Amino acid sequence: MTAHQKQTAKSGLAVVLAAGEGTRMKSGLPKVLHQVAGRSMLANTLAAVTGSGIERIAVVVGPGREDVATEARRAAPGAAAFVQHERLGTAHAVLAARTALEQDCDHLIVVFADTPLIEPATFRALRAALDGGAAVAVLGFEASNPAGYGRLLIEAGELVAIREHKDASDAERAVTLCNAGLMAIDGARALEILASVKADNAQKEFYLTDVVSIARAKGLRAVVVRAPEEEVMGVNDRVQLAAAEAIAQRRLREKAMREGVTMIAPETVFLCHDTKIGRDTIIEPNVFFGPGVSIGEGVVVKAFSHFEGARIANQSSVGPFARLRPGADIETGVKIGNFVEIKSARIGAGSAVSHLSYVGDASVGVKANIGAGTITCNYDGFDKARTEIGDGAFIGSNSALVAPVRVGAGAYVGSGSVITKDVEPNALAVGRGRQFEKAGWASAFRKAREGKEKKRV
Ligand code: UD1
Ligand code: CA
Repeated sequence: MTAHQKQTAKSGLAVVLAAGEGTRMKSGLPKVLHQVAGRSMLANTLAAVTGSGIERIAVVVGPGREDVATEARRAAPGAAAFVQHERLGTAHAVLAARTALEQDCDHLIVVFADTPLIEPATFRALRAALDGGAAVAVLGFEASNPAGYGRLLIEAGELVAIREHKDASDAERAVTLCNAGLMAIDGARALEILASVKADNAQKEFYLTDVVSIARAKGLRAVVVRAPEEEVMGVNDRVQLAAAEAIAQRRLREKAMREGVTMIAPETVFLCHDTKIGRDTIIEPNVFFGPGVSIGEGVVVKAFSHFEGARIANQSSVGPFARLRPGADIETGVKIGNFVEIKSARIGAGSAVSHLSYVGDASVGVKANIGAGTITCNYDGFDKARTEIGDGAFIGSNSALVAPVRVGAGAYVGSGSVITKDVEPNALAVGRGRQFEKAGWASAFRKAREGKEKKRV
């Protein structure tokens, strides 16, 4: 049996603390619902918890925070929400999930929901530390600026206590090994240890950090598991939110590049936690990916393009300045050119929408050509309607296709048409004023005005 199998054979409960008001965010939105890499900090944290293979999840939310509970259930469908009615400290918050703690588990993991960069492997490392015989395993890091953090006090190689900054002596404040806020506690002892926490400190709060000295007093061991500072950074304000975003973006870009994606200026490409990009795809500078985007292999994404909820198959080319909105489904070898917007539309293999078009609520067959400035008029102010364009159709430039409407396979639409009726396959449809010509009209016009002064504004 590998170490990993041994751990997952044990039952675990994660209590995720999300009851923070986040006043320093200066926001109408609860702190943990602010986003990093295109999803809430809570969802990022829960993804790491779920990814570590933990079986049960309890999320502690503030009173009246149904929005936070809903987001928790969306991100981790099995999660149970508990309300902490008064904000009396981190140990008190964990005990809000008492009914979850009362069910047997081997490992209790406590997680702060404002730590969005945490990775699944770190939870596994904390659990492995318990398997090594400790009753408490605390995640620690070397802080570049330890102010505000709890300090990990080590004696003879053993973790003896965590001292909150406000309660620490000058000598203790000199310690740079800090508490990241995550810990694992032996499930069999967790309730007993947590129930022993008292609020006898500078902030009159029930500190989770006291579990270390309480466990020691009971003759149990506490250990430190170290993590890089970058992974455990907490977000309390929008400056830290941006710092966390920068780290998340760097990780996502590096992962994509390691998997075979070329980025000419990676620092200008913004990815989402779920962005999928195939090998040998080239991303030019200044490209933004929102949620739900999947890009195939050998695609060229030209500069200044914006994507959300879109799929692009292999060997296509998109941009510069393209906007692909939800439901854009681009098949193989398609060309989407500059200033083109696509929404809820499938573009068949080998087709081209090369310039200045809006294609929405539509389906375009294979090898069709959509001329410059084509617009699918999909909305009448009340309802959306669909446009269907058949295989090999050719839509002349500056045409308006007034949906619902179909252009049959192989048909031509003359430039500048307003098409309101279906077009038969292989037909030519022209819907515009007919051109007429009056020979010599211009010369006659000028002659009649001879000698008059030309007015200029
Ligand atoms: C906490 C730790 C500190 C650690 C730091 C790491 C304690 C006592 N201190 O301090 O050692 O270095 O995190 O970032 O644990 N929460 C509740 N209910 C409460 C209080 C807090 O749900 O009654 C939640 C908060 O929303 C937050 C987390 O617990 O997600 C941590 O609380 P916070 O007050 O931010 O603790 P820190 O002072 O940062
Ligand atoms: Ca904090």
